[in-house]
Amino acid sequence: MIILAIESSCDETAAAVVENGTRILSNVVVSQVDIFAAYGGVIPEVAARSHLEAILPVVHKALDDAGLTKDDIDAIAVTHTPGLMGSLLIGTLTARMLAILWGKPLYATHHLKSHIYANWLRDKSSATILSQSKVNLSKSNPPGEGRDFEQVQPMESSSTISKKWSNCSPSVISQRCNFSGDAGDDCLPEFPLLALVVSGGHTQIIYMSEHNQFEIIGTTRDDAVGECFDKVAKILGLPYPGGPSIAKCAEKGDIRKYKLPHPKVDGLDFSFSGLKTAVLRAVQNELGLPITTPSYELKEHLSEQQKADFAASFQETACEILLEKVAKALEEHPEARSIVLAGGVSANQALKEKAQDGRFGGVKVFIPELKWTGDNAAMVGAAAYFEVVSGVKETDPYSLSIAPRTDIA
Ligand code: KG4
Ligand code: ZN
Repeated sequence: MIILAIESSCDETAAAVVENGTRILSNVVVSQVDIFAAYGGVIPEVAARSHLEAILPVVHKALDDAGLTKDDIDAIAVTHTPGLMGSLLIGTLTARMLAILWGKPLYATHHLKSHIYANWLRDKSSATILSQSKVNLSKSNPPGEGRDFEQVQPMESSSTISKKWSNCSPSVISQRCNFSGDAGDDCLPEFPLLALVVSGGHTQIIYMSEHNQFEIIGTTRDDAVGECFDKVAKILGLPYPGGPSIAKCAEKGDIRKYKLPHPKVDGLDFSFSGLKTAVLRAVQNELGLPITTPSYELKEHLSEQQKADFAASFQETACEILLEKVAKALEEHPEARSIVLAGGVSANQALKEKAQDGRFGGVKVFIPELKWTGDNAAMVGAAAYFEVVSGVKETDPYSLSIAPRTDIA
């Protein structure tokens, strides 16, 4: 089954062609990160307008890169929730229009499902990730004529497509993983599993008994962990997006320099707003400034070493908080056979290393490849495929709605 997938829930315009949920025929992402770096965060109205400019050239390029036409596509998939309304609108309207015009079935997927299913992507090809401000989307180049990306230098690009998964079928996909130390390519997550979903908007532990069966067993009561990385980065004067900036800055820092508290939240729930405030107070205290000093005034007083030590201490604490709860979830669900990490924060090297340091015993830990941790459409194609094989019915393209916040179900 060949799916053309579209993702536009936040500030990445993405399209991909995915075969049988795992084999990527093409994957194009146009990121608005460089636009929003100047503002220190996403501006929803600007994001929507940027999606509008990029969406048709991106879809066209995904088909072009795959060497396919609309006639080769079996279905269309799109993210319809959660996300920014204007952003979701552009992706879903495009997908609805194509489904109607081309007469293809449409599947609407939940963004967090897609992040989880990034763990099923098994392809060695590189993602084509482009910066919106560097892409030539000029009006003289009508979308759909294949010239829109001519002057662009991709940040990462290759069209090597592994043939390994060309025979993928649901039976291959559900094969047992014979884990013997190292994660081989053939190794896929086994059910039941625990998914730690860590993104800019969500921090959840989700129990999956089977494909497409989701139960939220832990969730944040306030900020998401990605949001916390972004806010702490702002306090330290590090560039947007905060997650990668903190990770980089932390490389030269001491993880033990500042003692930050672990929130006392019952059960498997999280709380990250206290950690953000704890960093703020620790910075004010370190600088000998009163707690009334506004957070935006602190960065200019911090030395590079202090920033690195704060970044490292914060990152250490945030990762431990996440993984302590996963360990607790595992105690409550000893039958879990795999742990999967998902979402933008699963790009974090410290988190990855800690998750794989043996603390979860023999339970295999899966982490998506770096290129699939952030928002992309290949993961949407994977999630939609596993919905189809789980018996989910297609969506009516005339009535598909969008929603800024919904739980995975
Ligand atoms: O999944 P994602 O790309 O978008 C959402 O669905 O929200 O996640 C974005 C979040 C941002 O908060 C970003 O700072 C964080 O993921 N992030 C990271 C890293 N790379 C991205 N956080 C920590 N370490 C990283 N290396
Ligand atoms: Zn995301």
